[in-house]
Amino acid sequence: MRIELTVNGEAREAEVWPGESLLYALRERLGLPGSKNACEQGECGSCSVLLDGALVCACLVLAAQADGHAVVTVEGLAEGDDLHRVQAAFVEAGAVQCGFCTPGLVVATADLLARVPSPSEDEIREALSGNLCRCTGYAKIFDAVRLAAGS
Ligand code: FES
Ligand code: FES
Repeated sequence: MRIELTVNGEAREAEVWPGESLLYALRERLGLPGSKNACEQGECGSCSVLLDGALVCACLVLAAQADGHAVVTVEGLAEGDDLHRVQAAFVEAGAVQCGFCTPGLVVATADLLARVPSPSEDEIREALSGNLCRCTGYAKIFDAVRLAAGS
């Protein structure tokens, strides 16, 4: 089946299998490998994207469900060569080790700060509770979120 959607502000089309995930379509059909496939079961958040402005796990959404909708991936956050402030904060805080969780954490953090510009510690932890990191121990990730929030 053919789907038409907006991805990172651009009209895109793809031929997909009816049972195919949005994550697969983004990575394999649309040339956007930023969203990572670490569990494919909705457990880790590495595939986090915005679907019509709502944070979702792209591995749990069918590509067909995105037909006619707008998706923002981690590739859509930077403005040209200028990193999104969350991306810059992750770099500055050293919040990246293997980097597998990073795209999802960046998208989830950008979503949090768009909704709650100055989040409390509890709000940060709650917002990122669906994003698992196997490497960093989270301290530097939380530093990066505070840095991006300017707190
Ligand atoms: S790959 Fe989607 S939640 Fe882990
Ligand atoms: S940096 Fe390796 S999983 Fe988070």
